[in-house]
Amino acid sequence: MPCPALPDGFDLTDPDLLHHRVPLPEFAELRRTEPVRWIPQQRGIAGFADTGYWAVTRHADVKYVSTHPELFSSSLNTAIIRFNEHIRREAIDAQRLILLNMDPPEHTRVRQIVQRGFTPRSIRALEDRLRARAEAIVAAARDRSGPFDFVTEVACELPLQAIAELIGIPQDDRSRIFDWSNKMIAYDDPEYAITEEVGTQSAAEIIAYAMNMAAERKRCPAHDIVTTLVAAEDEGNLNSDEFGFFVLMLAVAGNETTRNAITHGMHAFLTHPGQWDLFRRERPSTTAEEIVRWATPVNSFQRTATQDTELGGVLIRKGDRVGLFYASANHDPEVFTDPDTFDITRDPNPHLGFGGGGPHYCLGKSLAVLEIDLIFNAVADAMPGLRLADSPRRLRSAWINGVKELRVSAG
Ligand code: HEM
Repeated sequence: MPCPALPDGFDLTDPDLLHHRVPLPEFAELRRTEPVRWIPQQRGIAGFADTGYWAVTRHADVKYVSTHPELFSSSLNTAIIRFNEHIRREAIDAQRLILLNMDPPEHTRVRQIVQRGFTPRSIRALEDRLRARAEAIVAAARDRSGPFDFVTEVACELPLQAIAELIGIPQDDRSRIFDWSNKMIAYDDPEYAITEEVGTQSAAEIIAYAMNMAAERKRCPAHDIVTTLVAAEDEGNLNSDEFGFFVLMLAVAGNETTRNAITHGMHAFLTHPGQWDLFRRERPSTTAEEIVRWATPVNSFQRTATQDTELGGVLIRKGDRVGLFYASANHDPEVFTDPDTFDITRDPNPHLGFGGGGPHYCLGKSLAVLEIDLIFNAVADAMPGLRLADSPRRLRSAWINGVKELRVSAG
């Protein structure tokens, strides 16, 4: 039965819709009445087909698509990150080199290599340094007089530092990398006044920087992750181009996502004081996962059907785009008790904020969970009385559930 409450022209990838709120009532309606719904394209938004897409809103269906890459491809016609001629050098198909846009067996090969940089041991090795960073970031914010923006003062810094630590970017180069990363992810929002030109130029700078790093390590190996990933190409490592694009992807995948999880988490705590009291007293280990469920920083990813197939009772044709709406899956009452309640003790919590569990499941999940834990522990210790000073200003983006500004005062 078609979904009666949704008007013609309704589009879940409309950045103006997501600018104001996550469309939770519409998701609930879709899950109930038309969980796999064809949405004709309205505005040609980056990442989705000009022809429209199937909106998949139930937890079970999002999981099914994610775990069947042979039916739902990540490489066909996918444009998760768009590039222009700045970085489309001859012989490089930029899209193909991004892990997110690969299918098995190519994806399996590259993922096995880059996973070496994300072992529990390498993440644990970062913990002490990241804890010190988190405490320093929070202390600097606390010492400001008057209200401050939690996004720029607290949430932005740790994700960038974490990626820089992981890859081993020297301290002196970090501000340049941070500047490129921020420009690259911001051009979706006109208020930042950053043009697409500047965004893609920044992406090109990151790739060039990383390729340089790779070339240097090949000449002169060191005890670091770059060396592990690139040193000996013939032994099944990344080539310099692949490494360049891998670092670019980390700058996008690990930066804005974690920043928004931290910001939404802070906002959730400030608007649910009982949960903040509970966190300060007990520090439940389940907190970070609930923050990611609640925040769902990545609203959706897409796939393309490789053959005619059935999903949720409808026929998906070969070549059709399929949008996986994690934000909807994470509020599915079939899976979550009281899904619209923020509960940091929720356990189990099989949310899909890090993806639907297939081959593309978030590579940086352990790092993200660590960062979220470290920041909230630091805030609870240093600024237990933090208060909201104004309503949050949201990012205008069709893809990222983001907050641009969250004004708070230390208490
Ligand atoms: C993939 C979410 C943090 C690196 C993904 C996917 C999602 C996601 C939804 C796609 C999964 C799929 O298609 O099935 C998040 C969220 C984060 C976060 C919500 C923070 C709260 C990070 C961090 C890093 C990272 C810190 C690395 C520094 C990646 C990579 C992929 C990925 C490399 C692609 C994996 C592949 O295609 O095989 N993430 N992510 N993410 N994420 Fe994250």
